[in-house]
Amino acid sequence: MMQIYDDGERLSQAAAELFADQASKAVAARGRFCVALAGGNTPRQMYHQLTLPPLREQIPWAQAHIFWGDERCVSGDDPRSNSRMARELLLDRVPIPGTQIYPMDCAENPEGAAGRYQSRLREFFQPEEPRLDLILLGLGKDGHTASLIPGTQAPDEKLRLVTELRKPGEDFARLSLTAPMINLARVVVFLVSGKSKAGILQQVRTGPPGRFPAQLINPPGGKLYWLVDKAAAATEH
Ligand code: 6PG
Repeated sequence: MMQIYDDGERLSQAAAELFADQASKAVAARGRFCVALAGGNTPRQMYHQLTLPPLREQIPWAQAHIFWGDERCVSGDDPRSNSRMARELLLDRVPIPGTQIYPMDCAENPEGAAGRYQSRLREFFQPEEPRLDLILLGLGKDGHTASLIPGTQAPDEKLRLVTELRKPGEDFARLSLTAPMINLARVVVFLVSGKSKAGILQQVRTGPPGRFPAQLINPPGGKLYWLVDKAAAATEH
């Protein structure tokens, strides 16, 4: 389902409200809310909205558990770090226990880090399958999501829940939840904003299947939302 908003501000507000709604529903149903955050620029305004009243007071932060969809394997205080971004814009500004925040620490030994994060997910959810309540995703101009980057082995991962990869031209590795792990989630939300994404959004949503990693995302036991702004939804681009 795709929902179109006038601009990035309204898109971010709607995404923040959906986050709050899913948080309350998850805590009511299971006593906790398990969410994976996205990196990149698009979710930044949404993270800020979550720190403002009334949503800040409505969200059961004490029962929230924060994971990531992907990470750039740089030190935690590096400006390219997805966890740093989320900490500064959101997590340091809401009453969430630090023990319930699980960054993808992969600056050292990315290969080992993927295995460690997978074990952490399995241990956290055992004996059940690692079903996150909510996963936030962005969409890259090349059709990638999380760090399922075209031309790497990451989109083809069928068994592991977390994989490491190197995007050609980058001097750092990345960690990413795999498509099988993302598709276990109860709710998956793509946030797509801006004219520069109009072309790829149309191809991913209406083009032939199997061309872009983002097309791998379709949770069989869950809901998939596309929250986009008018500029990204424009078909004349
Ligand atoms: C990352 C992100 C990545 C991002 C897309 C869209 O670490 O780079 O997780 O998947 O969501 O590249 O990025 P923008 O929102 O900046 O356009």
